[in-house]
Amino acid sequence: MRIALYGFMGAGKSSLGQKLAKQIGYDFKDLDALIETYTGKTINDIFSSEGEIAFRRIEHLVLKNFIRENQENVVLALGGGSILQPTNRKLLELKNFYKIYINVDIYVLTERLKKNKNNRPLLKDLKESEFDDYIKALFESRRNIYEKHADLNFKVGHESFERTLERLYNYLNVN
Ligand code: S3P
Repeated sequence: MRIALYGFMGAGKSSLGQKLAKQIGYDFKDLDALIETYTGKTINDIFSSEGEIAFRRIEHLVLKNFIRENQENVVLALGGGSILQPTNRKLLELKNFYKIYINVDIYVLTERLKKNKNNRPLLKDLKESEFDDYIKALFESRRNIYEKHADLNFKVGHESFERTLERLYNYLNVN
């Protein structure tokens, strides 16, 4: 089985993915980390030196390379914007990835991201007064696509990380 976790920035895709993979004995890959290895640059550097359009091109290329490896039994955490590109969705579908939307409440996301914006190029330069509105608008612009392409729409409420992981594990029932 191949599993892709996606959702908004700050949803916990990487932390959940890493733990989940360990629990079910799968490999874990993080698309942003693969991009950083491939380019030798941080995501912030790619955005600032080449811009978002170039980043999306690289993101697609790195995903394509990964898909070509044809790895099975893998949990892949995508970046928050990866699933928006139809060409990326096609790649995932080609290998029958089970796509899980990590669906976290916008208020929870906003609070998390306020504390953790420096390594996120779309957020790091926002003023405090702009932050909430920006997140809300970006989330709203993505929400339908996030929901539409989910094989599993996994809602995360106010619960501990351990509880979320346990629920996700139980849903999947991989073993
Ligand atoms: C992005 C999310 C980031 C990263 C890039 C763009 C987005 O990943 O890919 O900064 O467009 O939402 P995370 O969701 O892991 O922060």
